[in-house]
Amino acid sequence: MGAVLVTGGAGYIGSHIVRRLLEEGRDVIVLDDLSEGHRAAVADGATLVEGDCGDERLLGEVLAGERVSWIVHMAASSLVGESIEDPAKYYDNNVAKGLALLDGARRAGVAGIVFSSSAAVYGDPADLPITEEQPAAPTNPYGETKIAFERALGWYRRAYGTRYASLRYFNAAGAHPSGGIGEDHARETHLIPRLLGALLRGGAPVPIFGEDYPTADGTCIRDYVHVVDLAEAHVLALAALESGRIDAGAFNLGNGEGFSVREVVDTVARVTGSQPPTTRAPRRPGDPAILVASSARAAKRLGYRPSIPRLEDIVATAWRWHREHPEGYGDRAR
Ligand code: UFG
Repeated sequence: MGAVLVTGGAGYIGSHIVRRLLEEGRDVIVLDDLSEGHRAAVADGATLVEGDCGDERLLGEVLAGERVSWIVHMAASSLVGESIEDPAKYYDNNVAKGLALLDGARRAGVAGIVFSSSAAVYGDPADLPITEEQPAAPTNPYGETKIAFERALGWYRRAYGTRYASLRYFNAAGAHPSGGIGEDHARETHLIPRLLGALLRGGAPVPIFGEDYPTADGTCIRDYVHVVDLAEAHVLALAALESGRIDAGAFNLGNGEGFSVREVVDTVARVTGSQPPTTRAPRRPGDPAILVASSARAAKRLGYRPSIPRLEDIVATAWRWHREHPEGYGDRAR
């Protein structure tokens, strides 16, 4: 069966994937430079190699030393706003280092890659819900770098036979229902953890970025998908690639239902029993008004079906994690 190498496996989504792969009985190697990830997030059964996926020598050693059959490539920079301010960082981390990994994988004879892509590849979608047939038209360097790597995967598949699945996540949210792992970013920009953090830690109210969008209440609409459902999709994609049921493709991963920023604030208030402090703010550059996925292709071809689809339940798992870990993993100063 061979081992699975998970780059970025100490991160928020990566750590949930590692857990699921271990439950499946897979040998798991995590390659993570711990710039965003956390040592404590890596489950005991996995081997952590600390380093950069663009480090060819280290990668060569990992791929030569272990029987790595598959790679789940998660390591990346993933903030839209930061990508506009510092595109060099995004091209380096997401494209240059990704290509080093892809080429190392080809030379080592790795069978295929499950790639962490994003709804950001679509930019401002022409139609809703968004299907994979819609053209990629990113509006920021983050989305550009994700589609660039997806396209490289396509050409590598054609020339060298490396199989792949590009999983285009919508808004990852929630935490493992066990309460053991969750979201802990050095600079938290995401809506749900910001609202929960404001309730737990006080401090400045959370800005509502724009109330003049063409939506019912004027705030942006997003498709929030539970992190354990994203993790499950990776296991399903790996199984589909391994069995030969698919050999290449892009798949949207969402819940199929959109919630406005105001609705998320109300849900947080209901779940926690407290009204999070918010304040009106201008639009955040690069935010599309509405992003809602059609995950029909993933449902049909991978057997993807969210197990925690209700926003209340998603928020409740996040709330448990944040309440029980007010300092996150406690490995960095806030
Ligand atoms: N928002 C606020 N206030 C905040 C934080 C967010 O109003 O303090 C709003 C945003 O404007 C947006 C919504 O809440 O409308 C969700 O924002 P997040 O930052 O939680 O998530 P994004 O939709 O910006 O980002 C997600 C992924 C990215 C991906 C992007 C696709 O995290 O990786 O979707 O556009 F690129």
